[in-house]
Amino acid sequence: TEDKAQYKERIKKLLAEKDAVLVAHYYTDPEIQALAEETGGCVSDSLEMARFGRDHPAKTLIVAGVKFMGETAKILSPEKRVFMPTLEATCSLDLGCPEKEFTEFCDAHPDHTVVVYANTSAAVKARADWVVTSSIALEIVEHLDAEGHKIIWGPDKHLGSYIEQQTGAEMLKWNGACIVHDEFKAKHLRELKSMYPQAAVLVHPESPASVIELADAVGSTSQLIKASQTLENDMFIVATDKGIFYKMQQLAPHKTFIEAPTGGNGATCRSCAHCPWMAMNGLVAIENALVADDLSEHEIFVDDSLRERALLPLDRMLNFAA
Ligand code: 13P
Ligand code: SF4
Repeated sequence: TEDKAQYKERIKKLLAEKDAVLVAHYYTDPEIQALAEETGGCVSDSLEMARFGRDHPAKTLIVAGVKFMGETAKILSPEKRVFMPTLEATCSLDLGCPEKEFTEFCDAHPDHTVVVYANTSAAVKARADWVVTSSIALEIVEHLDAEGHKIIWGPDKHLGSYIEQQTGAEMLKWNGACIVHDEFKAKHLRELKSMYPQAAVLVHPESPASVIELADAVGSTSQLIKASQTLENDMFIVATDKGIFYKMQQLAPHKTFIEAPTGGNGATCRSCAHCPWMAMNGLVAIENALVADDLSEHEIFVDDSLRERALLPLDRMLNFAA
């Protein structure tokens, strides 16, 4: 609508004036992804967001995603100012892995190498030996396992189990889950598959093992987008946040994408798979982040000593991926 167009115009002007670039995750709403594309920013998975923010020459990063993504950007680029549409946008994996308890867990197993998912606070990263995102987790654990490391994994239990199953590594796992992916139901997915036998099933590994078992391709957001282009099927059932449909449809306009079913009570919900925290990244919030008087509501700060410790495992990942 006209109103939205005005917001977009103002945001574009502000980005240019402030030497700022918009970095958005595939789970943000389509209009936010489109805006990042139109303004020379980036739309990507969490690994690429980290790299893009670090390497971009802009003085300021506007990170449309959730808090751990803003923190990662700041840890990698302390000289840049990092703003988020709202600092309230968190993640159930981050919330479910408090620093104190996680540190106790690690301290109880001092002979273990600590591998944490990127979806964690700067403080939890600071306790880790390695940070991984879903697009590089398998390779890194495979590498550590081959070197004979005993591994602590946190916080996502489903991704952890999937990695164990794929690599044969045995890990001590934290008991966290993503509230979005944890809702996909194998029973309903099987029913949907039988209605559309020609469809390939794409699953993000934060989903339960019973759902992953039904997949034709399992992977991070960028890997699932790739699979939606390379697999020859014309139809896909997709078990991840529905924000991803924007890019899948854009890259394969003639293919059909259906949401995998979620929900209890035997009912299927066809539009529930959207992260409530990703959804907070609207146009109004982005404009606010660019004109904020009270920066405390939008700016990311990471304490220096914490930053230095969290940088080590993040750099290990980025160097491994390079
Ligand atoms: P990826 O984009 O790295 O697959 O991460 C998914 C995610 O959980 C972000 O919230
Ligand atoms: Fe966290 Fe899940 Fe939301 Fe991603 S989709 S930010 S893992 S709650």
